[in-house]
Amino acid sequence: MFIEKEPYYKPIGREIEVFEHAFKNKLPLLLKGPTGTGKSRFVEHMAYRLQKDLITVACHEETSSTDLIGRFIIKGAETVWQDGPLTRAVKEGSIIYLDEIAEARPDVIVAIHPLTDFRRLLYIDKLGIEVQAHPDFMLVASFNPGYQKGFKELKPSTRQRFVSLSFAYPQAEIEREIVANESRIDAATAKRLVKIGEKIRNLTELGLAETVSTRLLVDAGKLIHTGLNKRLAVQTAVVEPLTDDPDTLEALKDMTDLMI
Ligand SMILES: Nc1ncnc2c1ncn2[C@@H]1O[C@H](COP(=O)(O)OP(=O)(O)OP(=O)(O)O)[C@@H](O)[C@H]1O
Ligand SMILES: [Mg+2]
Repeated sequence: MFIEKEPYYKPIGREIEVFEHAFKNKLPLLLKGPTGTGKSRFVEHMAYRLQKDLITVACHEETSSTDLIGRFIIKGAETVWQDGPLTRAVKEGSIIYLDEIAEARPDVIVAIHPLTDFRRLLYIDKLGIEVQAHPDFMLVASFNPGYQKGFKELKPSTRQRFVSLSFAYPQAEIEREIVANESRIDAATAKRLVKIGEKIRNLTELGLAETVSTRLLVDAGKLIHTGLNKRLAVQTAVVEPLTDDPDTLEALKDMTDLMI
């Protein structure tokens, strides 16, 4: 996909610079961090900046190397080869974003290894060929280290092939700007939403699998912007997505009602 319009992205640190240098040096990049912290938005923004096509693959437990590399398909009376998204990106010199790479089947990791080192080669077993990556080909992957602890990890031999950036919740000032910009609510309401986010993030005793992301605050802002009652917006966009435990829900609802 070629991105026509600049996707809004507010930098949190020096990630733009790191991405540009990784691109120049043909190094793959791994974005680590919890859900809703701007990883996908960042990649879209960078593809726009570098004027490159972006191909995104949402990896899940069934994603195999065949899905990425390609397969033979039946077309009428004949069998024809169809390139998968990774092969297309390698040939065309696009940026491929493998979202949640740790979820994919192990053969995906095997397939990307020769692409992530100096060789920059893609082996297409089914055709018995190898393809040298286009000079502009770039592999970007994301990984959420927090959740499903110990379940889906990336091996050091994989991790050490990537230049890596950590994404976290932005500082209040930056997050207020993101929330206001994305949801178009006024600065005062954005400030309150960010306060709520901070407060819940500090309640580590709740033992939430993942806490309030910027995404949730943006969503609450959007609901408020279109006229939903503020408390109801926070309850449904911020509190309810976090937990199903009735006591925790009650406590969070009482707390946030006082803050908005
Ligand atoms: N730095 C940022 N600049 C602009 N928008 C941001 C930023 N961080 C978060 N957002 C907002 O949060 C939303 C979620 O961000 P995004 O989808 O990029 O998260 P993610 O890290 O890719 O999450 P996931 O791991 O669930 O895929 C975006 O749609 C955007 O509204
Ligand atoms: Mg994402």
